[in-house]
Order: sequence, then structure tokens, then C-alpha cells
Amino acid sequence: MSFVQCHELGGLGPMVLGAVQLGLNYGVANKAGQPSRESAHEILLAAWQHGVRAIDTAQAYGESEEIIGEHLERYPEHNFHIFSKISPGVDHRDATAILNAARSSCQRIARPLASLMMHNADALHLWDEGLGQAMKRCLDAGFAETLGVSIYTPEQFLAALQIPELRVIQAPFNVLDRRLLDSGLLDRALDSGRVIVLRSVYLQGLLLMDADKLPAHMGFAEEDVRRWESLCASHACAKTLAAMQYVRHAVPRALLVIGCERTDQLLANLSLLMSPDFPAGMKEAIEALKMPDERVINPSLWPKL
Ligand SMILES: NC(=O)c1ccc[n+]([C@@H]2O[C@H](COP(=O)([O-])OP(=O)(O)OC[C@H]3O[C@@H](n4cnc5c(N)ncnc54)[C@H](OP(=O)(O)O)[C@@H]3O)[C@@H](O)[C@H]2O)c1
Repeated sequence: MSFVQCHELGGLGPMVLGAVQLGLNYGVANKAGQPSRESAHEILLAAWQHGVRAIDTAQAYGESEEIIGEHLERYPEHNFHIFSKISPGVDHRDATAILNAARSSCQRIARPLASLMMHNADALHLWDEGLGQAMKRCLDAGFAETLGVSIYTPEQFLAALQIPELRVIQAPFNVLDRRLLDSGLLDRALDSGRVIVLRSVYLQGLLLMDADKLPAHMGFAEEDVRRWESLCASHACAKTLAAMQYVRHAVPRALLVIGCERTDQLLANLSLLMSPDFPAGMKEAIEALKMPDERVINPSLWPKL
């Protein structure tokens, strides 16, 4: 069954496994580093066994695609729907480079992608200058079922919405970054039949950190993290549960991409996702939280160590 049919029938479930953690040392709170190859395989196996049916990866995520490919070779019956993104380093004016990039992802995972996505949304302005044709040729060649894009800002989201061929849009959304909801863009996209995949439910782990223990280079986020921490404490709600359930309640039609670097995190996240517990009044309290500056909510602006 195609990924779109599966999604429309509710067969994908709400969670997409985020696979950047499998291929790279990732995350602001990360102490353990990239999981070993065996741990990465354990995460993929546990994900399938617990009903996860979609994976988000990218050519830029180190060994992530390769590890997924190894898993599918071991378990060909694991019919994951895989979204992958073209490396931002590929020349988006060069149709052959785009086709070669798409082909190389398919070769690594040894099957067509559910969605071939652009990782570099700034290149969307090239859509009518050959990029759109090149992406559509990737569909004709059988490299993917759909096309999509991953965005960072509401402006990029709006640009994606102008291109009907982009059926899948991945975007950040969490308790501190509610810009796409407030602007009405999420509803507009969902109403037009797009598949919306939300990431950064934990803001790369920042929302789960102790405000008192932020590393020095993240000090600029302390006040916002503390405000969020106090709100969770006043509702006697764990930060993990509040962060996850807020996104579920605010945008119930979206898929959530959640990155895990250990099997226990995966299982914890699945149970948080299914939990019926979300304190009354918490959604409204979160929506009354002051939204931080973009430098706090956009990880691509954080200082690199
Ligand atoms: N431009 C793009 O397209 C783009 C950009 C970024 C990410 N992504 C995708 O989105 C996925 C998710 O990444 P994200 O940035 O959105 O991260 P996130 O889901 O907001 O946070 C993930 C981090 O939170 C921590 N964590 C996860 N579950 C936890 C639990 N139950 N308890 C405690 N800590 C937990 C882990 O870090 P620690 O254990 O280290 O604390 C993990 O690395 C990635 O895997 C990737 O597939 C896409």
C-alpha cells in the first residue's frame, strides 16, 4: 500500500522515527554521542515491533540511510515508509545532480522513498527554473512516491504552500515555537491535503534540560527554559509528557517526527504519545507562554561548538 493511502487510512500511526540520531552525534543535551551500529539496529527493530511505520532521514545524516538500508536487508518484510532529504550540498540548478542524489538514496535503502524531500528550502525559488522538473523526473523514474520539503521558518512554509507538487512538509513545532499555528499556516496546509510532519517536539532536547544546568553557549535560552519549567511544575506535569501532548492536542492531524538515540527513549516516547494524561488547562497555559526570539527556537541559529 502506498504511503499516502496508508496515511489516509490512519495506518501510519502518529509517530515517525527521526533518524538523524542514528547517523550523527546529535542534540544539545546529548551526552552519549551517536549510538553504536548495533544499538541503532536495535532501535529500528524495536520501532517496527512497536508499530512505528515511518522513518525520517536525510543524505546529510551521516550513516543514517546506510544503517536503515542494512536493517531492511536483514528484515525485508519491514515495510517502513521512508522520507529522505536531498543533501543541501547538491547543486539544485543541476537536474542530473538531483536525479543522481535521489537514485543514491534509493540505492542505499534499496527501495523507493515514500517522499523525496528538499533539505534546503532556500532553493525553493528555483522550482520554476528547472528544479521542479528535475524533482518530477525523480517521481517518473520511480525513486519516490511523493515530493516534499523540510522548512525552518514560516516564510519557507508559505513558499512551500505555493507549490502544489510538494505533498509533504516537515516543519518545527513545539511548546515554545507555535508560529505555524498562530499564523494559520498549519491548518491551511492540512486543509489542502498536505501531509504535515512536525519535528522538534523537544527542541532538540533543550526543553528537557534543567534551566540551571544549560551549557554556557546556550545561556541565552535560560529565561525561556525556566518559564517553561515553572509552567510544568505548576501543573505537576513531566516536561516530556507536556511537550509531547501539547503538540498532539494542538495539531492532531499531523505526524510527529521524534528522534531517539536509545531504545528506552523510543519506548518512553511511544507511551507518552499514547498517554491520555494531559492536565486540564495546560494547553491554554502553554499558549499563553511568551514566545521566545527566533534565536532560541531556531536551532540552526544556535552557536556551534
Ligand atoms: N531540517 C530538518 O529536516 C531536520 C532538522 C532537525 C531534525 N530533523 C528530524 O527530526 C528528528 C527529531 O529531531 P529534533 O531536533 O526534532 O529533536 P527532538 O525530537 O525535539 O529531540 C530529540 C532529542 O531529545 C532527547 N529525547 C528524546 N526522547 C527523550 C525522552 N523520552 N526522554 C528524554 N530525552 C529524550 C534526545 O536527546 P538526548 O538523549 O541527547 O537528551 C533526542 O536526541 C530528527 O531525528 C530528524 O529526523 C529534521
